[in-house]
Amino acid sequence: MLLSIENLHVRYGGITALSGVSIDVPEGETVLLVGANGAGKSSTINAVIGLVPVAGGRIVFDGADLGAVPCERRARLGIGYSPEGRRVFASLSVTDNVLSGAFGLGRVKQKEALDWLCSVFPLLVDRAKQPAGQLSGGQQQIVALARAMASFPRLLLMDEPFLGLAPVWIKQISDAILHLRARGTTVLMTEQMARPALKLATRGYVMRGGEVRRSGTVEEIRDLALADEYL
Ligand SMILES: Nc1ncnc2c1ncn2[C@@H]1O[C@H](COP(=O)(O)OP(=O)(O)OP(=O)(O)O)[C@@H](O)[C@H]1O
Ligand SMILES: [Mg+2]
Repeated sequence: MLLSIENLHVRYGGITALSGVSIDVPEGETVLLVGANGAGKSSTINAVIGLVPVAGGRIVFDGADLGAVPCERRARLGIGYSPEGRRVFASLSVTDNVLSGAFGLGRVKQKEALDWLCSVFPLLVDRAKQPAGQLSGGQQQIVALARAMASFPRLLLMDEPFLGLAPVWIKQISDAILHLRARGTTVLMTEQMARPALKLATRGYVMRGGEVRRSGTVEEIRDLALADEYL
């Protein structure tokens, strides 16, 4: 198992966000967390990258307990992260935003990453020199995702990558995820828009009220995931 989340509890002050969530992400698979607003999807992802404290349970990545690993070192272990919403370095150019995700890779790998991402996302070529803060919300989302993909991470965490995007961009992102998967990247993603995400995922977890309600192959969770989409 590349990532095991075992009996995870997360609290924000007096609010319980996750109570006993267990999720397995096998190497090479694309695992989808679905569920309505407030289900606990972001809290799960953010606990893995280390942005929210764990109140109970443990998270094991590639055999190592992440509890002792600070947030910034988790990226160096090979965990890529694209947060919910659009997070770009507003004053940096589009190219520099993408390259910032490949920091520490060496020049040859950086160029390979940039060339590949430019071929998947034409926007990165058209707007290469423009400050990312000047792009539309959807365009910034593409830049943020490209940045998370630029390190060719072993595990890619994506929180609502499709949110608010036009179908043409959902297609570009889906193609990029499939390409990364072919290169060996494992994916854990959340999505309220279950339909396009179910096309990519191999396994899924339906969350509600801070707990896992159902898990299994995409076929096994499809009906419940689609029912939840309209909650
Ligand atoms: N910073 C915070 N402070 C207090 N409560 C929070 C905070 N972040 C999340 N919560 C609460 O924790 C619970 C789980 O929220 P979370 O953001 O993980 O859900 P989600 O499934 O990602 O929802 P969404 O689909 O809206 O993004 C919710 O009840 C939410 O109100
Ligand atoms: Mg969320």
